[in-house]
Amino acid sequence: MSPKRIAAFIVIVGVLAVVWFLLSPPRFWLNMTKAVEPTAAVGAQLVEKYECQSCHKIAGEGALKAPNLDGITRRSNDPVQVTLRLWLRDPRAIKGDTAMPDFRLSDSEIEAILAYLSEVDSNQ
Ligand code: HEC
Repeated sequence: MSPKRIAAFIVIVGVLAVVWFLLSPPRFWLNMTKAVEPTAAVGAQLVEKYECQSCHKIAGEGALKAPNLDGITRRSNDPVQVTLRLWLRDPRAIKGDTAMPDFRLSDSEIEAILAYLSEVDSNQ
């Protein structure tokens, strides 16, 4: 291959990598770029940032386009700590036609949000 072709090849691979990271960022990348303190206070900020309450009622406030999340962390009819994590990681992997967007949350963002939801539930 000529140097020009090698250069073109590298550019194409680079562009494909960027497109891949934008469309479907791998978990290690999310965890690196979106690392947060997994505390309830941070979780409350994330719930604001991602506008979860535009669909869900949380701590008594928000829309009811989606299930009311009050009490969600106290649900006992399934291994809730596991299913909530799986759900927040990738809603469509669990329910293909769900209206809930994939926010591409990092693991620590998920822990922060669950810490916040648990705090909300324990205050009720
Ligand atoms: C565009 C609307 C929308 C937004 C915004 C949204 N969700 Fe959802 N969410 C849904 C819908 C709809 C469901 C119910 C699943 C279904 O039937 O598709 C759901 C389900 C859930 C569930 C599972 C509820 C259960 O009963 O198991 C959790 C937890 C949840 N969402 C958390 C969040 C969090 C946290 C955020 C913000 C980061 C968020 N959602 C933002 C629409 C939304």
